[in-house]
Amino acid sequence: MLSFALVSKNSNPFGREKVKCSIMEDSVEVILQHKSCELSRHTEEKPLVTAASGAFLAGVYGLWTLFALPGFRKVPICLKVPYLPSSRTQTQNVMKLLRGRAGCLADLGSGDGRLVFAATAKGFHCTGFEINSILTGYARVKSNWKGIPSSTASFVNQDFWKTDLSKYNNVTVFLAPGVMEVLGRKLEKELPDEARVIACRFPFPDWTPTATEGEGLDQTWAYDMNVIRKLSTQAAMK
Ligand SMILES: C[S@@+](CC[C@H](N)C(=O)[O-])C[C@H]1O[C@@H](n2cnc3c(N)ncnc32)[C@H](O)[C@@H]1O
Repeated sequence: MLSFALVSKNSNPFGREKVKCSIMEDSVEVILQHKSCELSRHTEEKPLVTAASGAFLAGVYGLWTLFALPGFRKVPICLKVPYLPSSRTQTQNVMKLLRGRAGCLADLGSGDGRLVFAATAKGFHCTGFEINSILTGYARVKSNWKGIPSSTASFVNQDFWKTDLSKYNNVTVFLAPGVMEVLGRKLEKELPDEARVIACRFPFPDWTPTATEGEGLDQTWAYDMNVIRKLSTQAAMK
């Protein structure tokens, strides 16, 4: 009886709950619709964003490989050094360590030629050795454009490991930590006693520098061959 009374009072015992439910369902639907709209808008926008960022990254990588990789195959893997240009401060630090000096200068791995151009401006006769033919070509074009005679600055597309460096009394290097020890041995064998070697960012592990300029990533070190040889002889005698 009781249950009948309740039923008759509300005409439908679950009516109110149904209304509540249908309101909730409607709101959920509205939320879902809103979300799906947002989602479809995002998925419409996302391919464009993804494609654009993909194209940008591919472009950057393409440019990097274009400039960094040619010539790489010719060098043993343990001696490979990628292209990374010197900063302005680093270049200035190199020039400070070359103050008062003159003559022939070799930049081992000359990149776009910036160290060579800075040194020619101070009166050095420079040769940039660069294994990457595109960078060598770029430096040559820039040199012509600057009106620098080839007797003052020349760029050679050549592996410096296979080059005799005995005629250079100034050598600049911005390479990689892994090659410095091997390079030190080569320079010690070939360079004249009066030669000065400037190392950028990575010092020679076995050599004692005569002077240093700057700090952090821009630090440069100067090594004088006569001092290096003297110290090597002393160490060998001990
Ligand atoms: C870190 S970058 C320095 C570029 C430039 N000297 C500067 O300071 O902006 C090193 C350069 O050395 C070149 N390189 C590496 N190994 C070489 C090799 N065996 N002979 C000639 N160049 C080399 C690379 O192609 C790269 O351009």
